[in-house]
Amino acid sequence: MVDLDYKYNARHLAEELAWLKEVVKTRYMLHHGKKTSCRDVLEIPSPSLNGCNSLYSEVVRGCRLTAEERVVLILALYPHIAPNLLDSFLKEIAAEKEDTPMLQTPTVDTALFLLAGDNLEKRFYYYRLFEPDSILIREELITPEQDDTTKGLLEARLVPSKDVLALFTTGRLHPPRYSHEFPAQRITTELEWKDLVLPARTRAQVEEIKIWLKHGRTLLYEWGLKKKIAPGYRCLLYGPPGTGKTLTATLLGKDRGLDVYRIDLSLVVSKFIGETEKNLKKIFDAAHNRDWILFFDEADALFTKRTEVQTAHDRFSNQEVAYLLHRVEEHTGLVILATNRKGNLDEAFLRRFQCMIEFPMPTKEERLRIWQKGFSEKSVLEKAVNLEELAERYELTGASIMNVVRYASLMALNEGSNVIRAPHILKGIEKEYTKEGRTI
Ligand SMILES: Nc1ncnc2c1ncn2[C@@H]1O[C@H](COP(=O)(O)OP(=O)(O)OP(=O)(O)O)[C@@H](O)[C@H]1O
Ligand SMILES: [Mg+2]
Repeated sequence: MVDLDYKYNARHLAEELAWLKEVVKTRYMLHHGKKTSCRDVLEIPSPSLNGCNSLYSEVVRGCRLTAEERVVLILALYPHIAPNLLDSFLKEIAAEKEDTPMLQTPTVDTALFLLAGDNLEKRFYYYRLFEPDSILIREELITPEQDDTTKGLLEARLVPSKDVLALFTTGRLHPPRYSHEFPAQRITTELEWKDLVLPARTRAQVEEIKIWLKHGRTLLYEWGLKKKIAPGYRCLLYGPPGTGKTLTATLLGKDRGLDVYRIDLSLVVSKFIGETEKNLKKIFDAAHNRDWILFFDEADALFTKRTEVQTAHDRFSNQEVAYLLHRVEEHTGLVILATNRKGNLDEAFLRRFQCMIEFPMPTKEERLRIWQKGFSEKSVLEKAVNLEELAERYELTGASIMNVVRYASLMALNEGSNVIRAPHILKGIEKEYTKEGRTI
């Protein structure tokens, strides 16, 4: 959390830009039959991007970009980060009355010219860099933008994606996609704290996490407690399904502008056996220094008491559990684990938590507040709907109540009305009860 590596972007981008300038000049010389020490622009070595760990270098390494791909990427980037880079060169060639390659607003053609000159065979070869399965396009690093679709791909402008540009300037990372190698998914919410109804005790504990997110850094680095206490903050959220655990995690991220990544441990355990350690490492490495909140869902899948290692789910070796414990412990950010079954968790593991927060079934007062906040302002309840009575009578979680709200609202819309009707609400409740094997 201390030195965000985006600070190093400037250094690495400067090296990359200087390289692009050399590539441009060399191509120009080659094109005009002028003397140069290279026979091809790719003989100019690309910067090693060593010395520090910038987000730019991470993308280059993470995507395993080749020199050709790097030329295209930096060509697309330069008008946005160093628009004057080629000014003196352009002046020089203008004075010589040579035709200027389209350098100010780079297109696919510009890139092909830089890489292949007018060697047709090579130009065709490099077309692949702009096809949908090329890494640059697939990872949405750049997009060839065609203003006029009647014109071909050659004239498409090279535009860096907003994410990539933001990443290299402000340091916000292009979020990795969920995959077998990266079994974590960014989660967000449109909701606000005011939408979340929690008992006072739970809310007070959630406040403590907020305080840590706000002041943890000062405590560790300015007040110097880094030497004396573990750097991160680990919380366990436990309680029945649908009581607001995931919502709380996303709201914490939203509050502080941090990305929240959810790792479903039951999936990690069942699908990635053997690969788990490697995949977990990827997640922690990616989260390292990037201020991500890591949210491990279904935590019991991994942390069952070690004495009970018998069922299929527990094919996890102690070594893997130990690895995860170790990474969780040394992670400098916030790690949240959620479970429906706290009883299953290893006690040695529980001791490592700074807080354990219970998310109980809502009381009838809480249920009433969830009902009251739930419906859209555009809808109205018919007279026969009595929310107090619904709250009193039906023991539902926040998630179930919201399912009923959705069902009854959709039924109203389907009737071409904005009036929420009691029978639909009851039907919705019945559906929720049935899911849990209960009867109304
Ligand atoms: N306490 C609550 N107050 C208001 N809304 C709630 C509450 N709990 C759940 N909800 C609603 O239900 C949705 C789902 O809840 P959420 O995913 O946070 O539950 P969860 O505790 O993570 O469940 P699970 O254990 O099944 O993962 C929320 O996005 C919200 O709309
Ligand atoms: Mg959840």
